[in-house]
Amino acid sequence: QVADKRHFRHFMLKEIHEQPETAELWVARHLPPDLSSDDPVALPFDHSFYADLERIQILACGTSRHAALVGAYLLEQFAGIPTSVFYASEFRYAPPPLAPHTLTIGVTQSGETADTLAALAMDAQRRQAHGEPAFAPRQLGVTNRPESSLTRQVPYILDIGAGIEVGVAATKTFLGQLLAFYGLALAFAARRSHRSVTEIANLKDELRALPHQLHSLVELHDQRCEVLANRFADTQDVIFLGRGINYPIALEGALKLKEISYIHAEGYPAGEMKHGPIALLDARVPVVSIAMPGVVFEKVLSNAQEAKARDAKLIGVAPECPDTALFDALLPVPEVSEWISPLLTLVPIQLLSYHIAAHRGLDVDQPRNLAKSVTVE
Ligand code: AGP
Repeated sequence: QVADKRHFRHFMLKEIHEQPETAELWVARHLPPDLSSDDPVALPFDHSFYADLERIQILACGTSRHAALVGAYLLEQFAGIPTSVFYASEFRYAPPPLAPHTLTIGVTQSGETADTLAALAMDAQRRQAHGEPAFAPRQLGVTNRPESSLTRQVPYILDIGAGIEVGVAATKTFLGQLLAFYGLALAFAARRSHRSVTEIANLKDELRALPHQLHSLVELHDQRCEVLANRFADTQDVIFLGRGINYPIALEGALKLKEISYIHAEGYPAGEMKHGPIALLDARVPVVSIAMPGVVFEKVLSNAQEAKARDAKLIGVAPECPDTALFDALLPVPEVSEWISPLLTLVPIQLLSYHIAAHRGLDVDQPRNLAKSVTVE
């Protein structure tokens, strides 16, 4: 498969524009119209995958870990399964005590990240050594490369099917990883009867509408972020704030900006600002606040207000409504259910980082010091 930039200036921009297609393929594959009523999503697993499951642990690095954090939110809050996320590099040397009936998920788009593969191998080895069936290794890999080393290592694979990604900064594979977790959350919620038929049907309807929404958002924000990037291209520090299901999107926004623009950026859960980071704020530090309607909407807005009171310039990733008038610049996102919101808020944060880096004339697809997959410890 030969990669071609088509008319795009960089692969990263092309890959951001391919996200509606990534979603479309996912919907076609996992939410076909002929699903039976007791199976809300088509996943390639048999009964033994789901049986007796009590908890989930997820191992990943970088952007894949951010997808895992959204995944953990969904698995816990939507499907009701206790879920923990670990940096694979930390898990290797400080795993938690073994717990029975645990599914371990390794998330790696390349399927070759050394820390993630080693953490999975160590987890399997410890479980085998324990000997009791309740502790037997049950491992799932979520990857964009089903032909990778990961597939040879774990019994279950979810192929995110995002197609080749050339840009070092992950974009469409992040979306694909998120979608994999939406599929898992639907499957677990239904099997455990944690959600009503209507709640499950609503989430599925929103996922089916996603490709169309992503298409409009990418078009809109490609232009808006280009204009906005001109104003922020000389910035030295940026803070990204989010809460709840959108907190990992704040982390991802900061990582994207750091890796391709070399601007210092941090992502925080917005409520944590007053415990220290607020001391960093002044008129030179833009704050990107992800404020989507839901359980923490008012809280995020009031955290943004606190930043504004310190003269920070506020960029909102939020719906256009009277509540969001406090933002100095708005990157509008349609009002959707909170569950689905990270799948939309990711678009402006990717495009903002992209346009800032492109405006600075940087090598967006091959940032300094970085490789597409990190195959050494
Ligand atoms: C993403 O933009 C980064 N390049 C990086 O954090 C990446 O997500 C990380 O190295 C993990 O890669 P993987 O998904 O291939 O395991």
